Amino acid sequence: MNRVLSCRPTNEAIRGEVGGFAAVIRYYGSLRREIEQSGGLPYRLTALGAWAASRPSHVRFFFREVGLNRYRHFVDLGSGDGIVTCIAALFTRATGIEIDRELCSVAGRAAQDLNIEKRADFICGDYLTQNLHKADCLYIYPDKPVYELEKALDGWAGTLLIYGPHFSPVNLKMVRRLDCGKESLAVYRNPDAAGPANFAV
Ligand SMILES: C[S@@+](CC[C@H](N)C(=O)[O-])C[C@H]1O[C@@H](n2cnc3c(N)ncnc32)[C@H](O)[C@@H]1O
Repeated sequence: MNRVLSCRPTNEAIRGEVGGFAAVIRYYGSLRREIEQSGGLPYRLTALGAWAASRPSHVRFFFREVGLNRYRHFVDLGSGDGIVTCIAALFTRATGIEIDRELCSVAGRAAQDLNIEKRADFICGDYLTQNLHKADCLYIYPDKPVYELEKALDGWAGTLLIYGPHFSPVNLKMVRRLDCGKESLAVYRNPDAAGPANFAV
């Protein structure tokens, strides 16, 4: 007999996500205050681009809407200080890949301090050199065009989430667009890839 698996999160999972999100907000809020008090800014250039963080409440809204809990492995491409990966880890296993060592170490410490290091891990490196095909959901808040990324995703059957309207892929197909306040998230799939039928859209 076929077993039907429900995609709906359980009440316990929802309670965990709500409490976990509040902890992430508190943690990153105090990090940002520390940066500001020491005269720093929550954005800067890195070796391969520019760091600025996605807005956490919008990110959570988008992840709920796409049903992130239905994916096996989420990867944030260019994860900055790790805030998106830590939010994603409230839904599923999450990895952040970031070129900047300092941001990567802030992210790793956040996962430890938030006690989610079993679900959230970080790789310090260039995401274009990693095997991205192992993930079924990729997220990017792009700081440049995504053409190189598209090449690396040739034949990949997962879902790519792009935060913000500025850089769109050429060959991947947008299957959904979500709006939250002034922010947007576009959901892309590879039209040529034969993906497993149970991949969420
Ligand atoms: C706009 S920030 C987004 C940060 C995070 N994803 C978020 O949404 O809060 C883009 C990040 O991507 C990183 N980045 C750009 N190209 C990269 C590459 N090829 N490999 C790894 N990190 C990269 C930058 O260093 C920067 O921290």
